[in-house]
Amino acid sequence: MKTQYYTATSLDGFIATEDGSLDWLTSLGSPGETSYPEFIAGVGALAMGSATYEWLLAHSAEMIAELGSAWPYTQPAWVFTRRVLPTLAGADIRFVQGDVRQAHAQLRAAAGSKNVWVVGGGDLAGQFHDAGLLDEVIVQVAPVTLARGKPLFPRRLAGPAMRLTEVRRLGAGLVELRYDLRGGAGATRPVWERAAQAEPFAGKSSVEDIRRRFDADVERFSNLETGQTATVDAALALGLVAEAAARVTPGARRLLDVGCGAGNFTLRTLQGLPGLDVTLIDLSEPMLARARERLSASSASAVRTVQGDVRSVDLTAGSFDVIIAAAVLHHLRDDADWEAVIGKLADSLAPGGAIWVFDMVEADLPAVQELTWRRYGEYLASLRGAEYRDDVFAYIAREDSPRSLTYQLDLLRRYGLAVEVLHVNTGFAAFGGVKRA
Ligand SMILES: NC(=O)c1ccc[n+]([C@@H]2O[C@H](COP(=O)([O-])OP(=O)(O)OC[C@H]3O[C@@H](n4cnc5c(N)ncnc54)[C@H](OP(=O)(O)O)[C@@H]3O)[C@@H](O)[C@H]2O)c1
Ligand SMILES: C[S@@+](CC[C@H](N)C(=O)[O-])C[C@H]1O[C@@H](n2cnc3c(N)ncnc32)[C@H](O)[C@@H]1O
Repeated sequence: MKTQYYTATSLDGFIATEDGSLDWLTSLGSPGETSYPEFIAGVGALAMGSATYEWLLAHSAEMIAELGSAWPYTQPAWVFTRRVLPTLAGADIRFVQGDVRQAHAQLRAAAGSKNVWVVGGGDLAGQFHDAGLLDEVIVQVAPVTLARGKPLFPRRLAGPAMRLTEVRRLGAGLVELRYDLRGGAGATRPVWERAAQAEPFAGKSSVEDIRRRFDADVERFSNLETGQTATVDAALALGLVAEAAARVTPGARRLLDVGCGAGNFTLRTLQGLPGLDVTLIDLSEPMLARARERLSASSASAVRTVQGDVRSVDLTAGSFDVIIAAAVLHHLRDDADWEAVIGKLADSLAPGGAIWVFDMVEADLPAVQELTWRRYGEYLASLRGAEYRDDVFAYIAREDSPRSLTYQLDLLRRYGLAVEVLHVNTGFAAFGGVKRA
């Protein structure tokens, strides 16, 4: 039961010429030589825009000659239009307009256990995608260039990267590509699926890319009251982590803040644990400079800064009572990274000491990840609109590789900590662990 955008495209990404002609495609051979018979057998309902519908109306004579019927489909079809268009005798057509989510509920119900086919055009497919309703894109790439025309997708699709699942060579020199839109490659794949990929982190930002980006973004990370807007419940988590540190390790003297940014978490933690001896680690020297400046007016008894990648910074065993890692661990990539860093942090805790993490987390089950991703998208759009949401999603796909809460709790346990969860909401979690005394 998927919603699929199945279409042919020219090599340069057009599904029709500017005047809507498909002659370049029909001249390549009959649909019988493609995957179409197999595909249409799995379709229970169709959706199309009015231009696609009008193309079918204009070619009804050819349909009759070829298929014996003016309308080529036996399945019910939803046609999107704001105009009044002619109908065809014998065709099961419903004209709809507006939000695709309403029509999609009807399409789903009509399709039953079969798939919903978004026939085209590209903008309509994009509307389904934006609503989080598109599961798969299947394109037959024709050995033709059109230079201009109706694009396969007329705009950039935001969200997790598409995952190529199949490549098939078809008759007439076509290649069929299948893309899964649920989850995407790299960052948002569940752990067990990512492990099966050949290069799970290919294309992700390098440590140097990340450093450069944060060097230029100090201001945004210097607000103790609001925290990060793209982060769900950032201010709440800041308070929870600081209070948990004060309650769980009231006698703490030494704090390590990893990926400290401009020092928000340390400043807040000092409110409940004044006089701490503070060590700050960050990739970005401008971030550290801002943190030092802000902490100079705080109660910290000492402030030491270390510019570097947490993977390679040496830490002395048993030298901290509290460790905070906020919005930083999601930059780690493979299992070796995670195991080495969590192991090192756990080792550097004194017995009875605690580590507190606040970060983006992925779900273990793909269906739950999908749900969380959709809700997070709604949160971002409600905050600053669809463009902001799209930018954040593109950024996450490029830069982040979060792990699930359970994966991280398991690691903390493996390195001898008793774990605790403080808060979880829409893909963000605050949690930690205490080293047994
Ligand atoms: N290569 C292939 O395999 C393939 C597959 C499919 C289509 N095609 C061709 O590609 C071309 C696609 O044309 P197109 O890009 O213009 O797209 P289209 O999606 O077929 O038609 C766009 C029109 O649909 C209506 N529409 C879209 N979303 C709507 C909504 N939410 N509510 C109400 N109305 C909505 C609007 O028209 P109105 O409101 O003005 O009616 C809009 O201008 C056609 O020529 C088609 O034949 C090729
Ligand atoms: C999103 S900011 C969060 C800053 C701060 N913890 C907060 O919550 O306000 C992430 C910080 O982690 C740093 N960072 C990213 N990867 C790192 C790494 N591998 N080692 C050390 N710091 C890193 C970045 O330079 C940046 O300052």
